[in-house]
Amino acid sequence: MAIFSKKKDEELTLPEKLPEHVAFIMDGNGRWAKKRGLPRAFGHREGAKNFRKIVRHCKDIGLKCISFYAFSTENWCRPKEEVDALMKLFSDYLDDIHELLTEKTRMIFLGDKSVFPDYLREKMLKVEEETAPYDEMFILIAVNYGGRDELARAAKLLAQKAVAGEIRPEDIDEKAVAGELYTKGYPDVDLMIRPSGELRLSNFLIWQCAYAEFYFTNILWPDFTPDELDKALIDFAARQRRFGGV
Ligand code: IPE
Ligand code: IPE
Ligand code: MG
Repeated sequence: MAIFSKKKDEELTLPEKLPEHVAFIMDGNGRWAKKRGLPRAFGHREGAKNFRKIVRHCKDIGLKCISFYAFSTENWCRPKEEVDALMKLFSDYLDDIHELLTEKTRMIFLGDKSVFPDYLREKMLKVEEETAPYDEMFILIAVNYGGRDELARAAKLLAQKAVAGEIRPEDIDEKAVAGELYTKGYPDVDLMIRPSGELRLSNFLIWQCAYAEFYFTNILWPDFTPDELDKALIDFAARQRRFGGV
């Protein structure tokens, strides 16, 4: 039931509670491939294809800010062959930002880019620079991202500012911490979606999810369809968010 789908000749029925920021943990690629007797890299390729399809749907229904967990600080412990396949897919994706430019979509990368080879880091910076003027939609891609790493980094940056006399320790509050995160300026996560059946965050946006609603499904990421996203959004619209109130 795609009640959010927007067709030109059809009136769009948006629920009141359409989330401002939806985050996706793109999990289950390996199991998708295994089920078919294929190497894990095939699952990642299918997952990357699905990423494009879901981004398109998000754009069609008017979601403003979406973020995707593509590679965690922990994922480096996978076999080299798998890490290489993921980096190749990522690099290929970065070569084709044409679509983002025509659609006025801004893309930024969350995570520590310093560990990537120069050619890959340069591609990321180019995409960030070229899409920086756009504000119709925001796509945040987490690569070499870890929530704890992000918080430790924020603490370091604040300590450096304090030592330099730019701020006083007593000025450090929640706003100051949020201002040093990779997601600076972007809204907190309203809806966190994790396919694949795992019921955990795996170190994704731990600060930003303080009051997020969670949606879990057993469907593997390559099979996660736009209709599934609609279901999650319908579910979200029915939630009562209290933020500690009554
Ligand atoms: C998610 O799929 C992709 C990355 C972590 C890069 P997985 O590769 O974790 O797939 P499963 O969980 O093994 O099925
Ligand atoms: C989380 O998935 C990371 C990404 C989807 C990029 P993992 O497959 O790495 O998570 P765990 O190991 O099952 O917690
Ligand atoms: Mg996994």
